[in-house]
Parts: sequence; C-alpha cells; structure tokens
Amino acid sequence: MNAIRSVVRGIGSYLPEKVVTNAELSRRLDTSDEWIVQRTGICQRHVAADGQATSALARIAAERALADAGLGADAIDLIVLATATPDQTFPATAATVQAELGIVRGAAFDLQAVCSGFVFALATADAHLRTGMFKRALVIGAETFSRILDWEDRTTCVLFGDGAGAMVIEAVPADEAGARGVVTTHLRSDGRHRFKLYVDGGPSSTQTVGHLRMEGREVFRHAVGMITDVIEDAFAATGESAESIDWFVPHQANRRIIDASAQKLNIAPEKVVTTVDRHGNTSAASIPLALDVARKDGRIKDGDLVLLEAMGGGFTWASALVRW
Ligand code: UT7
Repeated sequence: MNAIRSVVRGIGSYLPEKVVTNAELSRRLDTSDEWIVQRTGICQRHVAADGQATSALARIAAERALADAGLGADAIDLIVLATATPDQTFPATAATVQAELGIVRGAAFDLQAVCSGFVFALATADAHLRTGMFKRALVIGAETFSRILDWEDRTTCVLFGDGAGAMVIEAVPADEAGARGVVTTHLRSDGRHRFKLYVDGGPSSTQTVGHLRMEGREVFRHAVGMITDVIEDAFAATGESAESIDWFVPHQANRRIIDASAQKLNIAPEKVVTTVDRHGNTSAASIPLALDVARKDGRIKDGDLVLLEAMGGGFTWASALVRW
C-alpha cells in the first residue's frame, strides 16, 4: 500500500481591522509602551469588532486559504479548528465555519490546546488524512482572546490579540508527494501546570465565561525548556537540524522567548519569522498568521522546510516539521 503524506495546498489569514497600540493601553492602564516592548516585543494587537465572533475571523481566513490553494470549499471534507475562545460552548465553532462555507459533507470539530492548538490541530488532521479517512482538510487556528481578558489586569491584557489563520492540507500518495508535506509532529502536555495559565470560568465550574489568569514569570520559566525539548524530538525523529531547516515559525507569545529558544537551538536569527510585534499573542492563530505573512512576502518558498513550535496553557507544547 502506498503511504500518504499531507501536503500543504494553501494558507490564509485574517486580522480584525481595529488596532490597539501600546500607547492607547498606557492611557487607560498603569503601563507604558517602553515596558511592553522591552518585556514582550509587542507594539500593537488587533481586536475584533463588537459582534465579530471567532467563527467570522476563521471563515475569512479559511476562504483566503482556499483561494490560495485554488480550491472551492466543496473540496474540503475535514475541518479541525483550534480555539480556546469558541463562539459558544457548543456546537463547535468548526461546525459554524463548515456551514458558512457551504460544506455539507465530511466532519468538522474543534480542538482545545490553547496556544499549542494549531500544531495539535495540524497533527490531528495529518493523522486523519494519512489513514485515508479524509482527502482534504482545513486546519484553522482562530481566537478572540479580547473577550476573555481582564482589561483591568495590566499583567495579562497587554499581551494578547485577536486573529485567525488557516491552512489547506491534502492527502497525496507518498511517491507523488516526494519530500513535501507534514514530515513529523510531536505533541506534549502536563496538566500539573494547569493553574499557571488558565481561565477562571467555564460551563461546568462557574457557569460563566471567566477571565484569563496567568503566572507570567512561571510560564516564562518553563517555556524555553519545553519548546527546545520538543524541537529536539522533531530533529531526532527526522535527522533534520537547525542548519537544515529553512524557516523557524514559532508561536508568537513573547519576543524574548522566541529569541532565547532560537539561540539555544542555534537557529540563525535570519531564519526566525516574528510577528508578535504587530499581532501580539493570538494563541492558536499565531502560527498560521505568521506562516501566511512569511509565505506572502516570499520568504517561504515551495520545497522549504519549516519548523513550527508552540507552548501554552495546560501546559501543552508541540512541534512540527513541514516541507512546503
Ligand atoms: O502563549 C502562552 C504562553 N504565555 C507566555 O509565553 C507568557 C510568558 N510570560 C511572559 O511573557 C512574561 O513573564 C511577561 C511578559 C508576562 C512578564 O514579563 P516578566 O519579565 O516576567 O515580568 P514580571 O512578571 O516579572 O513583572 C516585572 C514587573 C512587576 O513589578 P514588580 O513586582 O517588579 O514591582 C510587574 O508588576 O513588571 C510589572 N508589570 C508591568 N509593568 C508595566 C507587569 N505587567 C506590567 C505592565 N506594565 N503591563
């Protein structure tokens, strides 16, 4: 039997129109542009308009990914949507996106791994395609973290933003795919850390939506080690290395975490794709948003080997190697 590989067909993203700068935040909070830039690298973030739900962001990103792939929505038979900010407790936001795209076959479901969501979703969709169960998947990361932030809490609200990114992957027989496609994925979690980054509400606990709470210093302390470990796993599984990858597209939480991880792995700074300055931390959306930027500006070319990495609430952490 010919093995199957999940090949990237298209990428797309969407950022809400409204931009909130550090200067604007510092007018209503005890913070400053200088503190935020120095500690995080963030200069601005996008915030969804009133009434603009996660599914609305996801739908536009998905349409753009489909256009990039040259495919109609009817080509898709699987949607895996990573989000920690669904439109409703249920149904899955993926089901809303499926309906709005006019897709009436296959399956659509949400996946919850917070900031690691996109890599978890990519690994999940890849595994489903490789079984032969589905042919083409939309892998989406979409968030409206502005809705779960405590806008009075300067230690968290300055960090996050809203946005969505989507990737179309297709099951292709390995002999046709060649080296292209999802090469390897590595997923990890450790629930002992769940209260270091969490939301203090939910349907079964408080019957409220709740607000994001984070022990930032604790998350920071674990981040670089977890990120570099799971990347070493990807390198060990494939024989690839910091030298052989073309691009490093990490989760965009904090410029200092990105730089320290790249440095520890000996990844050359010019290979690192950074969008945290303009997007802030968009959780599950950050990687596909950054991929779209680097693909559209001509950095990521066909055949390039791209390293993805994320770490977030749970804790969850994950890596993937994708040959475009
Ligand atoms: O995507 C999911 C993963 N999440 C992350 O990766 C976030 C990880 N953590 C971080 O990125 C960093 O820990 C933060 C950016 C959240 C904080 O940076 P830090 O260098 O760890 O600062 P800190 O928490 O140690 O706070 C230093 C000081 C404190 O004041 P004192 O106690 O030293 O007087 C804070 O109260 O900075 C203060 N502070 C602020 N000052 C101005 C905290 N937030 C702000 C703020 N503006 N917005």
